[in-house]
Amino acid sequence: MSWYDVFSNFYDGSLERLYLPFREAAAERLALAPGQYVLDAGCGTGQSLDVLSPAVGPSGRVIGVDLSRGMLDAAKRRATTKGFTNVELVQGSLLALDRRMLAPHLPAGRGFDRALSFLVMSALPEWETATRRVWDLLEPGGTMMIVDANTESIGLQGHLVNLTARADIRRRVWSALETLGEDFVLERLQAPYSVGGDIIVARARKPAR
Ligand SMILES: C[S@@+](CC[C@H](N)C(=O)[O-])C[C@H]1O[C@@H](n2cnc3c(N)ncnc32)[C@H](O)[C@@H]1O
Repeated sequence: MSWYDVFSNFYDGSLERLYLPFREAAAERLALAPGQYVLDAGCGTGQSLDVLSPAVGPSGRVIGVDLSRGMLDAAKRRATTKGFTNVELVQGSLLALDRRMLAPHLPAGRGFDRALSFLVMSALPEWETATRRVWDLLEPGGTMMIVDANTESIGLQGHLVNLTARADIRRRVWSALETLGEDFVLERLQAPYSVGGDIIVARARKPAR
């Protein structure tokens, strides 16, 4: 059992309210629309499903990928309870993400219109590889967004966040996205003390064909 399997038991109770305003800010900037296909890369317990699933509606689809069975079970319970019928969940590593992993869920020849990775890349030493894997599955003209906690000078709370999330919030997790896309934007939003730093919202668009 991984740490995130254990964390799934108290993840929502401890973090859902804290990050909700940033999830809403992310959804707004993603300019979601009915019918879109969205990848929730490292979906965890599915908190982002609350803003993604209703926005793309019954003709759209949200595919959540996560490594942890415990996290995915919680996401499944959330989707069922809230009646999110356009959500599909896949267990796998973002470091091995490809079309084959998503084959039953992503129609052949179809990529994602939007991809969101929320509080995931800081927990991945290989965030650049993960970013490229997600990027490769984007449709031309599609947008990828990375939202994460970040600080340049870490304090006590930052260390606590790193310990709890098995992360390092000093990582410049937007580095690969910055080189891949066009119209790269990096925003730094002020966050409550508990976050351990700021919230960064990084996004870039894949050039249209
Ligand atoms: C801090 S949680 C964030 C979950 C969710 N995105 C959210 O906003 O609440 C980090 C998530 O990344 C997942 N994760 C870590 N390494 C991963 C990997 N290599 N591939 C897929 N998911 C991974 C963990 O299982 C966990 O669910």
